[in-house]
Amino acid sequence: MKLAVFASGSGSNFQAIADAIQENRLEAEISLVICDKPEASVISKAEALNIPVFAFRPKSYENKAAFEIDIISKLEENKVDLIVLAGYMRLIGSTLLEAYHDRIINIHPSLLPAFPGKDAIGQAWESGVKVTGVTVHYVDEGMDSGPIIAQEAVYVKETDSLSSLTKAIQSIEHRIYPDTIQWLNNKRISQGGKTKNEHKTSV
Ligand code: GRF
Repeated sequence: MKLAVFASGSGSNFQAIADAIQENRLEAEISLVICDKPEASVISKAEALNIPVFAFRPKSYENKAAFEIDIISKLEENKVDLIVLAGYMRLIGSTLLEAYHDRIINIHPSLLPAFPGKDAIGQAWESGVKVTGVTVHYVDEGMDSGPIIAQEAVYVKETDSLSSLTKAIQSIEHRIYPDTIQWLNNKRISQGGKTKNEHKTSV
C-alpha cells in the first residue's frame, strides 16, 4: 500500500510509520511526504530516508483549492492509496476530500469526541480528566470529527505531569498508528484492493 504522510511539525509519527515499514511490521511504502511548513523538521527526517517531499507555502496560492489541486497531482503521480495525516495542522478542503473520499486518516491525542483541535493533551490535563488517550479516525470536513477507526485509553496517574502524560500518549501514538494502517491494509487486501470505511474494534 502506498502512503502519503501529511505533516507540519516534528514528524515523530512519520518516523514511527517509517520504522514500522523498515522492521516489516507494516507492509507499505511512504511514497511521498506533504508538508505545508517548509521549515518543519519532518522534512529532514524524510530526506534522510530518500522519501520525496512536496513542501509548499499555502500563502503563495490563491486559495485552498489551488494548493489541493497541486497536492492531488503529486498523489496521483505517486499512485497513493492512503493519505495519513500526522500532525498536519490544516483542515482538509472539499477538493481533496472529494478526490480521496474514505482514503484519508488522522491521529489525534485524545479520546475523541473529547478535546478536538489544538493542544488536546493540554486541554485534557487542564480539565482534570482521569482517562484520556489516542484516536485514529477517518477525515471529514470537520475538525477531528470523522468516523473512529481505533482508540486506546491512557490513565492519568496521580504522579503524572503534563510532560509525562505527553510522553505516554506519544508512545501509544507511535504504536497504534502503524498497527492501524496495517489493519486497514489487511482489510484492503481482503477486499481485492479497494479501501472501504471500516471501524477497528481493538488494537
Ligand atoms: C501528534 O500528537 C498527533 O496526534 C497530532 O499532531 C501530533 C504530531 O506530532 N495530530 P509529530 O509531528 O508526529 O511528532
